[in-house]
Amino acid sequence: MQTIVRLADYRPSDYLIDRVELDVRLHPTETRVTATLALRPNPAGEAGAPLVLDGDELTLLAVALDGQPTGPGAIEVTPRALTLHQPPQRPFVLEIETQVNPSANTKLMGLYRSNGVYCTQCEADGFRRITYFLDRPDVMAVYTTRIEADRDEAPVLLGNGNPVEQGEAGPGRHYAIWHDPHPKPAYLFAVVGGRLGRVGSRFTTMEGREVEIAVYVEPGKEGRANFALDAVARSMAWDERTFGRAYDLDVFNVVAVSDFNMGAMENKGLNIFNDKYVLASPDTATDADYANIEAIIAHEYFHNWSGNRVTCRDWFQLCLKEGLTVFRDQEFSSDERSRPVHRIAEVRTLRARQFPEDAGPLAHPVRPQAYREINNFYTATVYEKGAEIVRMLRTLLGPEVFRRGMDRYFSTCDGTAATVEDFLAAFAAESGRDLDAFARWYAQAGTPTVAVAGAYDAGRRTYTLSFRQSLPVIATEAAAAAEPRPLVIPVALGLVAPGGGPAAGRSERVSDGVFVLEAPEDSLVFTDVEAAPVPSLFRGFSAPVKVDHALTRDERLTLLAHDGDAFNRWQAAQSLAMEVLVARATAGAPLAAEAGPEGDALGRALATFLDGEALADPAFAALVLTLPGEQEVAQAIGADVDPDAIWRARQTLRVQLGRNLGARLLGLRDALAQPPGAPFSPDAASAGRRALRNAALDLVAAADPEGGTALAVAQLEDAVTMTDRLAALAPLSLVPGEAREAALARFGETYRDEPLVLDKWFALQAMIPEAGTLERVRGLMRHPAFSLGNPNRVRSLVASFSLNNPTQFHRPDGAGYDLTAEVVLALDGKNPQVAARLLTAFNTWRMVEDGRRQRAAEALRRVAGTPGLSPDVSDIAGRSLA
Ligand code: PHE
Ligand code: ZN
Repeated sequence: MQTIVRLADYRPSDYLIDRVELDVRLHPTETRVTATLALRPNPAGEAGAPLVLDGDELTLLAVALDGQPTGPGAIEVTPRALTLHQPPQRPFVLEIETQVNPSANTKLMGLYRSNGVYCTQCEADGFRRITYFLDRPDVMAVYTTRIEADRDEAPVLLGNGNPVEQGEAGPGRHYAIWHDPHPKPAYLFAVVGGRLGRVGSRFTTMEGREVEIAVYVEPGKEGRANFALDAVARSMAWDERTFGRAYDLDVFNVVAVSDFNMGAMENKGLNIFNDKYVLASPDTATDADYANIEAIIAHEYFHNWSGNRVTCRDWFQLCLKEGLTVFRDQEFSSDERSRPVHRIAEVRTLRARQFPEDAGPLAHPVRPQAYREINNFYTATVYEKGAEIVRMLRTLLGPEVFRRGMDRYFSTCDGTAATVEDFLAAFAAESGRDLDAFARWYAQAGTPTVAVAGAYDAGRRTYTLSFRQSLPVIATEAAAAAEPRPLVIPVALGLVAPGGGPAAGRSERVSDGVFVLEAPEDSLVFTDVEAAPVPSLFRGFSAPVKVDHALTRDERLTLLAHDGDAFNRWQAAQSLAMEVLVARATAGAPLAAEAGPEGDALGRALATFLDGEALADPAFAALVLTLPGEQEVAQAIGADVDPDAIWRARQTLRVQLGRNLGARLLGLRDALAQPPGAPFSPDAASAGRRALRNAALDLVAAADPEGGTALAVAQLEDAVTMTDRLAALAPLSLVPGEAREAALARFGETYRDEPLVLDKWFALQAMIPEAGTLERVRGLMRHPAFSLGNPNRVRSLVASFSLNNPTQFHRPDGAGYDLTAEVVLALDGKNPQVAARLLTAFNTWRMVEDGRRQRAAEALRRVAGTPGLSPDVSDIAGRSLA
């Protein structure tokens, strides 16, 4: 097993690299790389120490020191390192020639080929798979890259920075030289070579720089790249407007590749994307795809400042760039779309992915204290909870001080490899506040619970809110086993009068609508309160906590109807639904029990809500109609979970709501129908109308499978967008029978040459909550379009089953666990990163009831006990079982 790396052991590098000249001669199996490194001893390092360069699966061809071949014994080469025993204690130049085989690179780290296109992925430690290097983010160099290739095979040659020159390089060969003036760590290095189509535009920065923007895609798909291209320009304008950050090179290139381990990568001036997050047309992409593309384009672009200009000192600081950049992309999407709707989407993701992570065996602080395999720490906790911490900082300091803090951070840390402490110091300096207690958010794992109780004193006309924070004790390898200390929790709140409207009442401890809970327990007294109010707490989800607050049904209905905070109106509906779901799931209600007064009460409240405002904000209404997911219900139950009971509870409530609201929902569908021939727009308003129509279809079809099937079949026929087509196929996929099989077969046939659309088709089938799904998934793994080598295919088919089909992954007979374990092992030899991520499906294994728990443990142990596991998979298996 990989050795453990600890934050506490950080030491600066003994040597620094100021300049790198790379000459990359691309060849399908024998790519040669000559690296000329200008090194010097680091004054902050240990004088006279050996120089140890990282390497991984490299063939070393030659080494020269200051122009001379190194003598015998001067260097030592092992599979993972090249050591120079007595480096000069003055600046020196090392020239290293290596050879790699991009076609054999199935890990998709380092230099590889995707559909014939040469591309690289270096974060976190892939550069060492290209040449020997000090592959750590605090070693920053200026790079000049010469790329050479067959002109036929790779007419397009792209590198970091600005293009310098290009020309012939012998018969059939050509080259391009790129220079990046901004010092950067090796993880931001990239080259691309291939046959690619291009769309381009220009952007003039606020500093007057003319930037050429381009998006490169598979030839023939240029038309699908325009939305991404436009999103780049909008991102550039937004970052100038919002944070005063301008782009700093003459070109900005985005390349879409079809084999990619993650979403996308922020290489300096040359972002490389999973093509799923670039390519969009109404016929092939859903509204959710458009929203994701826009958000990820923005995310990678924003990294140019939060990540590239200011980078991370070490990988423990990953949240410094990721949490901050997620916060920035969330703000972008909120500004470009609808803020409350986007906030709800963010919180749903956090609760569905980060809360379970924080509650399971893989829990870790936003800044972990130790890791074995850094690739396993690109998690919802680092990204999503990391973003929530930045958001809390803004809530605590207010938008103006926050912005000044950001300015200070960018200017003081520009060109450096920084830490979380550096980030917080900028805000402490601007605000004059001590942020040491706040910093605990970075160090303590687990989701805090805040218990709240309210009491009205009619005689004194006071209303008292008492708060108590409780923090889980988490002792995992990645977290220090110390007793947790109280957190600084911003509670955005307000009081709602029983009949609606804001209630009177004041408290000195609430400023700008925010109360800061710092002590383990505290209480807040409002004076001059005329009648018992309904408190609206954690407005806008002001802190990533669970709230334990016993409101009555009527109080929740008041919030749903009248709260001035849209997030909490949605939350009220979710809480009402959650209470019904948890009660039904834990009472073991049979499938037929689709009645019940609480469900009817929810139905009536939703009816009033829909009548009043569904058409005013359809996107919001669609979210209010969507019940909490199975995963969220499981979290709320917490232990001895029976996934089948949860599914049944959710199903009975869908049926009940569909019956109670049926006529209204059909009316809304008609009112929201797109007039024939109206032009398609992916904008938020149009997407919102589609979302509400389709949320209505979902409930109608649950209540009336026959009528719903007819409706869905008709929608499938008429649909002009992928959103509507898929939303029709989804309810169809839930009703066993011929209509379903015919619709699925036809869809599969129609899109057989569109891998990204087939991914949706794979996913839909993998998520069918029926016992037959396991065999269906096995069958689809033999589909000609499926390949274990392509991460998108694995995610859409297998990960959809393992992570998004709780009843079937958690089959009582353990067959879902077995299938997952089998695929993890089959994949591990090819692509350990993707295998490890699939294995995180077992994250919830301790929560399920005993029989399933035993079977999950057996499957996990089988994985853990397999000889020759990758460090990635062995790390996840080990921590999951610990
Ligand atoms: N840094 C990428 C991001 O923007 C994620 C990533 C990590 C991509 C590692 C590839 C490899 O979030
Ligand atoms: Zn990122």
